[in-house]
Amino acid sequence: MQWFAQAPANIALIKYMGKKNSSNNTPMNDSLSYTLNKLTSNVALEACPGKRDVWESLDTPGLPPFELSQQAQTRFLAHLAFLKEHFNYKGAFIVRSNNNFPMGSGIASSASSFAALTRCAVRALSELTEEGLPDNDTQAKLSQRGSGSSCRSFYTPWALWTDTGVRAVTTIPYTDLYHQVILVSHEEKSVPSSQAHELVATSPAFEGRQKRAHDNMKSLLIAFEHKNWREAYEICWREFMDMHNMFQTSSPSFDYMNEATNELLIQLQKDWEQYGDGPIVTMDAGPNIHLIYQQSQREIADRFKRDFLIGNYDVL
Ligand code: DP6
Repeated sequence: MQWFAQAPANIALIKYMGKKNSSNNTPMNDSLSYTLNKLTSNVALEACPGKRDVWESLDTPGLPPFELSQQAQTRFLAHLAFLKEHFNYKGAFIVRSNNNFPMGSGIASSASSFAALTRCAVRALSELTEEGLPDNDTQAKLSQRGSGSSCRSFYTPWALWTDTGVRAVTTIPYTDLYHQVILVSHEEKSVPSSQAHELVATSPAFEGRQKRAHDNMKSLLIAFEHKNWREAYEICWREFMDMHNMFQTSSPSFDYMNEATNELLIQLQKDWEQYGDGPIVTMDAGPNIHLIYQQSQREIADRFKRDFLIGNYDVL
């Protein structure tokens, strides 16, 4: 028997960074994300004899096999084991997965891949155990155990993840945005985000982070509701810089910003000053820069791409 599911990535504007409890990924602060419906992970499950689950690439004709490090495979299979335990199911599966975005693009895939695995596994397990299919909220909660940010991928276009759970936000008047990622580096991150969550607690800036994230969230939701795009850009900039400042002041410190990122960030600020308009800019725990435009800003997006990106960076 076989099952298949797909789930999108998401980009946080108010970041989940730091955990209250790492065994179930309880976040230190609330986070807000926009769902990237074009960047997806696929998971197929096949029931097989025996007790041991195995991971394989989900092959797409014409494309090279998808690769996943041994460590990532172990983490993926551990989440499947947790889901099987939840359903009290003892059988084994072949898990096949891939992403529709290029491997080694430096784009975090844990949100989409864990959401797709959860979606696929709950379908398979509820059928095999003849239990009812858990609702979307329950699936998101189960997915959080695998990777925190994956719970936000169950809601679109906006997801708000708080202490009490995750839900769609319907009060943000921007429902169809245009997202680009500047691939500043194709390399695998030296410090994975799971480790970043632990290290930030050693930064002097960690104290006060909950309040800053809370204030940024409040102001951002108001800016969005008032359709104040510039204010939203400024809050989001402050927010990702706040997270990167914690990285830079942790012990040991770590940094995803490099010369290219810094140059591009300066250019983006200059453009905003010059034209009085531009994208929301954000960065996750990596060197790539995410740009979020309104559909009416396509010309601005094309101009920035033509003037600064083409020939220098891949853009997704
Ligand atoms: C910087 O969800 O990858 O992207 O719960 O340990 O799997 P784990 O962490 P993860 O953290 C994502 C951190 C971030 C910000 C965000 O997406 O909110």
